[in-house]
Amino acid sequence: MIDLHCHILPGIDDGAKDVSVSLAMAKASVAQGVTVVACTPHITPGLYHNSGPAIRQATQQLQAIFDQEGIPLQLVAGADVHMTPDFVVGIRSGRLLSLADSRYVLVEPPHHIAPPQLEEFFFSLVVAGYVPILTHPERLSWVPSRYEMIKRLVQGGVWMQITAGSFAGAFGSNALYWAERMLDEGCVHLLASDAHDAQRRPPNLAEGREIVAKRVGAEEAQRLVLTRPMGILKDQTPSSLPGPVGVANVKSVSSLRAEDRRLASSPASRSGGARDGVRGVAGRLRRLFK
Ligand SMILES: [Fe+2]
Repeated sequence: MIDLHCHILPGIDDGAKDVSVSLAMAKASVAQGVTVVACTPHITPGLYHNSGPAIRQATQQLQAIFDQEGIPLQLVAGADVHMTPDFVVGIRSGRLLSLADSRYVLVEPPHHIAPPQLEEFFFSLVVAGYVPILTHPERLSWVPSRYEMIKRLVQGGVWMQITAGSFAGAFGSNALYWAERMLDEGCVHLLASDAHDAQRRPPNLAEGREIVAKRVGAEEAQRLVLTRPMGILKDQTPSSLPGPVGVANVKSVSSLRAEDRRLASSPASRSGGARDGVRGVAGRLRRLFK
């Protein structure tokens, strides 16, 4: 597997606080079958003043330590880049980083306020030749009220990265609901750990892959953690990579919502018997509202 979102670099953001934590994260990643990790510290104006050159240097230094310790993990440089108005200029100048110098770049929007002109921002990146990857949409508090826009972004070439832990309920019932719903509806391109340490937010890509495989099948799960990430490392065009596959019988958003309501109020749903049809919808709703 390839983990393209991980705060493994020591001491430069709210991720690994020192090298011992980085080593523990690396060992945990290797133990579950991860061979490549992208070092993606925050670049957030006013909070984490990381820059491209410093991240590249820190990545090389950590790689040297892993090599010395005999840890078979390859690191590539990247960043978890907060939305800023001068994003394209920043990427082109090297101040901001894409993933492994590819056309694919992680974009972290504000968690609690939907920025005005969000679509324009993302499409300006697409027009500039990049493939923006919106990080953890399932955890953004404004996504429920802007879900149609998220779907338009997907249709317009923006990729979505879900956090592996969200599928295990690590970020609560709302994040679980939106992770499952986006997956079911074929709106998820990548799964990543977004690990910050070895305990509280550990590398857990294997667990996420297993849960996802039960929902959309092993083949699509593998695409989320290997095929598309590998394509990113090789800087392949999005059109040359397999698109997301959701649950085959999932319906349109509006009909799904109507179905959600019907299933949630049905006796079969309450007894846990509504497993066919729109898979898992009733379960998602129960968890959301409990
Ligand atoms: Fe992150």
